[in-house]
Amino acid sequence: MLERDSTLDKYRILQPIAAGGMGVVYKAEHIHLRRLVAIKVLLPNYALDERTRARFAQEAYVQGQLSHPNIVEVTDFIHIGDVLAFVMRFVDGPSLEQVLQTESGPWPLDKVLQVLRPVVEGVAYAHARGVVHRDLKPANVLLDATIQASMLGTPRITDFGLAKVLATTGGVTRTGSMLGTVPYMAPEQFAGRSDIDARADVFALSMMFRRMLTGALPVDPNNMIAVTEVYTGRGPLSDPDDWGVELPHPLAQVLRRAASIDPSGRPTTAAAFLRAMEARTEETTDWQEWNQKTAAEAFRRGQVQAVNGRTEEAARWFATAVALAPEVEAYQVELGRVAPVVQAKEGQDQEANPPVRTEPDAGGKRVEMEPARIDRRETVSEFDRSAATVMGAIALCILLLPFIISISLFIAN
Ligand SMILES: Nc1ncnc2c1ncn2[C@@H]1O[C@H](COP(=O)(O)OP(=O)(O)O)[C@@H](O)[C@H]1O
Ligand SMILES: [Mg+2]
Repeated sequence: MLERDSTLDKYRILQPIAAGGMGVVYKAEHIHLRRLVAIKVLLPNYALDERTRARFAQEAYVQGQLSHPNIVEVTDFIHIGDVLAFVMRFVDGPSLEQVLQTESGPWPLDKVLQVLRPVVEGVAYAHARGVVHRDLKPANVLLDATIQASMLGTPRITDFGLAKVLATTGGVTRTGSMLGTVPYMAPEQFAGRSDIDARADVFALSMMFRRMLTGALPVDPNNMIAVTEVYTGRGPLSDPDDWGVELPHPLAQVLRRAASIDPSGRPTTAAAFLRAMEARTEETTDWQEWNQKTAAEAFRRGQVQAVNGRTEEAARWFATAVALAPEVEAYQVELGRVAPVVQAKEGQDQEANPPVRTEPDAGGKRVEMEPARIDRRETVSEFDRSAATVMGAIALCILLLPFIISISLFIAN
């Protein structure tokens, strides 16, 4: 750890911001310019490994090549003795993941687009320069403070630690290993394929849209059976038509295609994704009306669930209605009626099953990342995959059990 007020090259360290992967990010300031920066420093034990150093330098280089308002700018690289670090513009604001932790959504479409359209633009810019990010997720989108308090900050993409430069062959990224974060990582990344291209980022973008529009991820990242089923096409990745959010047809269509298990079904780059999105936004101008219509539909679905005694489902729909149209009192009244029932039930469930501890980055499960940890994490990832295979086999046996029993009875008779 670097001490407060210590200097690193031309920068004064102010405080650590985050420790993760293979480095620590510090808030610092340029000694002379007094400009705030963020410095990502490679942890000393990783700095001993040449491969890791090369990987870290590549992260800085790739991000340093990109100059776009929605990508965090890398401004300097430091190599003093054993210390390796790179300097970025300081982003004064939380990550999108942090915002989603407190405001999980569903978010109204205009707010989702306000955040995600610039993200897609930044990714499209990177794709146009042959760079695939490969770890897009809300935790890697930082929201820069804005002067208008009512607005969310300017989104800036960061963490190009897994990025791949398409034109290069080989390079310092290991191919054939599972890299990324479930469930944002594309199925082909999950399968450990080496021919990852821009379509993997398109998949991740669709998951980000989905999380924000519905308030939830399509699958629990800690449930490896469910994750494996989704990624192999055996488990359903529900259709945008079933999200309970009224999306205009073209947008639903592009989100449906972007989440294809087979990459050949997806838009080929973020630019293609963006074009489809833009076509959609030009069509609808009245967001207020859109929110109200969607809220009314969610409310109607909630009422159906409530009548059928499915209180939890009903509460989810009513919460959606309230989130989209907080001004409608009827929605709040209905939510108020079912919420205590759900809370009481949750309380009972928790007594019976104490909550499972979740990872701090609850928005996804990072299964493997920088080569710095490859030796250790290879085992983890291989374990994850073999565990998933065994669990898949067990699930298959259970499914086939009735057939096996009937055949045995038939033969016995
Ligand atoms: N330029 C920056 N300005 C402000 N905070 C940053 C900056 N870059 C990174 N951080 C903080 O550090 C955290 C980790 O950075 P990241 O590059 O995503 O590394 P990791 O590989 O550990 O995920 C971010 O979530 C953010 O909180
Ligand atoms: Mg990160």
